Amino acid sequence: MEEVLQRDDKKNSWNSDNARKVSKPKAIEDIEYNEEHRILSASKELNRVLGGGIVPGSLVLIGGEPGIGKSTLMLQVALGFRKEKVLYVSGEESENQIKMRAERLSKKSSSCFILTETSTQNIFKQIEVLEPAILIIDSIQTLTSSYIDSAAGSISQVRECTAELIKYAKESGTPVFLIGHITKEGTLAGPKVLEHMVDTVLQFEGDQHLMYRLLRTTKNRFGSTSELGIFEMRNSGLREVSNPSEILISQREEELSGITIGATLEGSRPLLVEIQSLVSPATYGTPQRSSTGFDGRRLNMLLAVLEKRGGFRLSVQDVFLNIAGGLKIEDPAIDLAVCASIVSSFEEMPIPSHVCFAAEVGLGGEIRAVNRVENRISEAEKLGFKEIYISKYNKKGLDTSNFKIEIKSFSKIVDVFGELFG
Ligand code: TYD
Ligand code: MG
Repeated sequence: MEEVLQRDDKKNSWNSDNARKVSKPKAIEDIEYNEEHRILSASKELNRVLGGGIVPGSLVLIGGEPGIGKSTLMLQVALGFRKEKVLYVSGEESENQIKMRAERLSKKSSSCFILTETSTQNIFKQIEVLEPAILIIDSIQTLTSSYIDSAAGSISQVRECTAELIKYAKESGTPVFLIGHITKEGTLAGPKVLEHMVDTVLQFEGDQHLMYRLLRTTKNRFGSTSELGIFEMRNSGLREVSNPSEILISQREEELSGITIGATLEGSRPLLVEIQSLVSPATYGTPQRSSTGFDGRRLNMLLAVLEKRGGFRLSVQDVFLNIAGGLKIEDPAIDLAVCASIVSSFEEMPIPSHVCFAAEVGLGGEIRAVNRVENRISEAEKLGFKEIYISKYNKKGLDTSNFKIEIKSFSKIVDVFGELFG
């Protein structure tokens, strides 16, 4: 059933006096702007994901499934400000619950204010008194505007409340963070409606059973959408993971077959990820293929290449592939690491732990070049790897004198295995 939008009049809850200013066209040359002006939060990961800090007057939506840690993240951000007054509005929890969480985070701030309220009219009344520098709304689904005659969380209510907050943000220059729930089905009225209204959409995700949480930009009017922030959920809140490769690569006492390290990029940041595979003879009929964190069709393609160009009889084997740490990798630069991991398990021959890979594998079994190979190589070197395997085509024009790590380059997949397994 279509929802009928019932609106009392043309008014909006946020009505400042300067709102009635009439805009006039202005020559683009005359428009002054200040790119540098961003408000920096204490969270380096958040700043980076936003494109270098919080833009005044911007609306940022933080979406994620219930229980993932959105409230924890934003309360932590709120408590991190020293100078700026922050207003954290909660329609979800009581003052007591929020205080309890703040105690758990063991952070103190004298400039963080909590308001438990759901009516936008009342919220704006308090804002006029407090004049916060940053506003956080937890969550947009709990708000109601008296200008709309429908329940909290309905599409028209969510849209109206967001419109009011956008007007407030733009006119006062105050950045506003909106927390929004997304259900697994994603069908409920919610952030989907909002995505085109706000400036930036951040997605907070992660397996609830894993400790890691990923903050991804899916839309950003003020920066790149390929940034990724990584946090670890601890008993005392979220810890920023500034060197993600260290946690993604499990500590190994002994060298095991089937484990390799690939150098990938997430946004602008290089990331070394661990790939694990298990290859064992298929017992019943069709061999099983299963992959977690890596595209299943690409896995099948790589298996066919290994069979045809490498001569490995994998078609009668079960193959299980897993990217450690719960990450999903789409970067083809981990192809070679995936192939090496499969062959290592198949041959039961471990690959030395000081070796890592950064190359794409083509249908002809050729080793293809990848973008920004220098970043990948320097990350590998920073983490103490001794050798990195790349494409011959990447080595051309690469100034190897910058690196201490040994760079081995190949043009065909068979040569890689010749080198690794002799
Ligand atoms: P919460 O921020 O309430 O999630 P959301 O707002 O997205 O619904 O976080 C919920 C989970 O985080 C909860 O299961 C408990 C856990 N948690 C910790 O592990 N450590 C902490 O310090 C805090 C505050 C929460
Ligand atoms: Mg919450």
